[in-house]
Amino acid sequence: KRVAVIFGGRSGEHRVSLNSAASVIGALDKERYEVIPVVITPEGKWFAGVEPAHLLAGEDPEQLGQRVALPADPTYGGLAPVEEGCLKVEQLRPVDVVIPVLHGTFGEDGTVQGLLELANIPYVGAGVMASAAGMDKIMMKTVFARHGLPQVRYCHFLRRDWEREPEAVLDRVEQLGYPVFVKPANLGSSVGISRAKNRDELRRAVELAASYDRKIIAEEALDVREVEVSVLGNDDPMASLPGEIVPLNEFYDYEAKYVEGKSRLVIPARLPAETMLELQRLAIRAFKALDCAGLARVDFFLRRDNGAVLVNEINTIPGFTRTSMYPKLWEATGIPYQDLLDRLIELALE
Ligand code: ADP
Ligand code: DAL
Ligand code: MG
Repeated sequence: KRVAVIFGGRSGEHRVSLNSAASVIGALDKERYEVIPVVITPEGKWFAGVEPAHLLAGEDPEQLGQRVALPADPTYGGLAPVEEGCLKVEQLRPVDVVIPVLHGTFGEDGTVQGLLELANIPYVGAGVMASAAGMDKIMMKTVFARHGLPQVRYCHFLRRDWEREPEAVLDRVEQLGYPVFVKPANLGSSVGISRAKNRDELRRAVELAASYDRKIIAEEALDVREVEVSVLGNDDPMASLPGEIVPLNEFYDYEAKYVEGKSRLVIPARLPAETMLELQRLAIRAFKALDCAGLARVDFFLRRDNGAVLVNEINTIPGFTRTSMYPKLWEATGIPYQDLLDRLIELALE
């Protein structure tokens, strides 16, 4: 089978994606699959035939690969001629399946999935709607609430509200009680997120979040343990053993996520059997609530004060390096990394 792995992307998590893709491409069974790596640069240009490892080493994709034009590209066709040597996206067509290894905006959010739907190419993971709803924390929480999933208390507002009536916004957020977390609605990897303990810090936190997104969410900040569950499947998904993350920083921020030694994974999590079961049941409910497909990682908070389990968020394209939580949890549950990729490809073609 011909498998295209699309990675990189126009998002704050570009580099994270290069790492995930390097692991995925390294592990795909070359006897079974012909692998075509396709990078999306931070500027949004596509190049086929470029290995993530080369990009991680700082090489230039323009020198390494063949440019792929998209329908929106002025060189694509229509009024302008296709650039010399440039592939049209449908010339990628002979691929049997695409694995989008893209984290964050313009990749995990349904945009690339929509393009693949139009091109009629099967792909691994959630469809357009689940990807989009999973990326937007406000939409995600609205769907989860409708499905009765337990969550933290929160409120949301627009950048415009903040610009027009900052004091009213602060008053509203303060109803949650300090401390609060403030987040851009559409980012990942903790970018633009801060914890505020008073009105001054809240002002700065909102300013920061508003610099990233026109929609902002504020949540009560709880004292929690963080536990994650991997989900695999389509209409009949299964849940892995839960794993716990122990960040060494104040919270699981960008550094804690990606700097070696800044957090510890405990797999499986050390929790009572009934809590483990509850986490698995909730993970599957969250996956189904959004109508996900293929894979997702569902992240939970476990309140230290009363032990309550709350759904924090879902990631439809979770980190996928060999040491990432998603594949590690499956390994602990009995599915090795390479088999996991085989299963995801099968699920995409189902
Ligand atoms: P991202 O999508 O960037 O991963 P999250 O919503 O998962 O954003 O938040 C990142 C981290 O911030 C969490 O893993 C957790 O450590 C901390 N955090 C976020 N919201 C809360 C909250 N309401 N209470 C306690 N900690 C939180
Ligand atoms: N957004 C990162 C990649 C994750 O959730 O794993
Ligand atoms: Mg998170």
